Amino acid sequence: MAYYQLKVKEIVRETSDTITIHFAQPVPHPIAYHPGQFLTLLLDIDGERVRRSYSMCSSPHADQTLAVSVKRVTGGKVSNFLNDRLRTGDTVEVMEPTGTFTPQLNPAHQRHIVLLGGGSGITPLMSIIKSVLATETRSQVSLIYGSRNRRSIIFKGQLDALQAKYGGRFHVIHVLSQSEDDWEGHRGRLNQTLILKLLEQLPESDQPTTEYYVCGPEGLMEEVKRALSIRRVSPERIHKESFTAPVPVEKPAVLVAEAVSNAVVTREVTVLYEGSEYKFTVTPRQTILEAALDLDIDLPYSCQSGMCTACMGKCVSGRVKLDEEDGLSERERKEGYVLTCVGHPLTDNVVIEID
Ligand SMILES: Cc1cc2nc3c(=O)[nH]c(=O)nc-3n(C[C@H](O)[C@H](O)[C@H](O)COP(=O)(O)OP(=O)(O)OC[C@H]3O[C@@H](n4cnc5c(N)ncnc54)[C@H](O)[C@@H]3O)c2cc1C
Ligand code: FES
Repeated sequence: MAYYQLKVKEIVRETSDTITIHFAQPVPHPIAYHPGQFLTLLLDIDGERVRRSYSMCSSPHADQTLAVSVKRVTGGKVSNFLNDRLRTGDTVEVMEPTGTFTPQLNPAHQRHIVLLGGGSGITPLMSIIKSVLATETRSQVSLIYGSRNRRSIIFKGQLDALQAKYGGRFHVIHVLSQSEDDWEGHRGRLNQTLILKLLEQLPESDQPTTEYYVCGPEGLMEEVKRALSIRRVSPERIHKESFTAPVPVEKPAVLVAEAVSNAVVTREVTVLYEGSEYKFTVTPRQTILEAALDLDIDLPYSCQSGMCTACMGKCVSGRVKLDEEDGLSERERKEGYVLTCVGHPLTDNVVIEID
């Protein structure tokens, strides 16, 4: 995993609680990335080393800078630090871009990309929108975007400009949950019923080649999932990115019984990373990543809650139990990929290869 020192070129205030940070691309070797991927920022704040992931809103196909947008979270350490204290000219350490919430772009494609988002979830969608419109000249893009009110719509000006530029190929539907009286657009919460109604209004909204990209608060993601399952959209065509870990649900008795038979006990694991082999012991109270970090083994990570895939590796021997599986696609799970930040060894012969 490569690390870079990036210089802040410009900070743009998008709304009262969201900024976009534009980083200058390193010269002469700009950082390559895919639309929809994220950067992990490493910061020292009040004597504490912290890291957080931020999706890029810039497009590798349309923008010169690498840009992330950060929305304040009430009481949040990093989002408020960046909104209040980061300045143009500052240098920030970042990990190389990562993430799998990315469309496979192909200029020959003629398809419909439908994006559904809420609040700060617009950031990776913005990168995807600009990239698809610029590279797939025969594809259509539609965005259904929920915000609180008119002033809190992130990128309103840019979305209007893209609609003007790409005419009939880009459709935007804004939905406001606390709209002003003179708002003429859609109102209400983006729930299953409203989503189904809005999808009906999109041109050719459900062809076999239509792909869906969803990013927003957990509640919105659930509503979209239900709406798309009613429309019988196959799961392979639905791509999701979560910014927060799902609320843990109480496990039914049958799963608890299964967990007991798959007992997590102290075991040794082997991790292969950047040409080195690390063997260490993981206790039942630790995840594989925690055990490595306690021994100052510098494995890659970011969210530490199974969402971002920065810690992903392939389990080439043995079995690993994951506390949280949603961060991995079904294909990744089948191919043996695991997340060390939520992983516990279930057998004595666990070997994990990290790229
Ligand atoms: C892959 C990925 C991409 C992300 N991309 C973006 C992005 O483009 N823009 C962006 O603004 N954020 C993004 N995030 C969220 C971001 O990484 C931080 O979690 C967020 O900025 C809060 O960090 P904090 O230090 O301010 O809050 P913390 O100090 O970590 O948390 C404070 C409190 O807020 C809660 N909380 C944390 N995050 C959120 C949230 N997003 N919504 C509501 N409550 C929350 C925590 O549970 C805690 O109770 C992304 C996260 C992931 C995993
Ligand atoms: S560190 Fe984010 S999924 Fe493991």
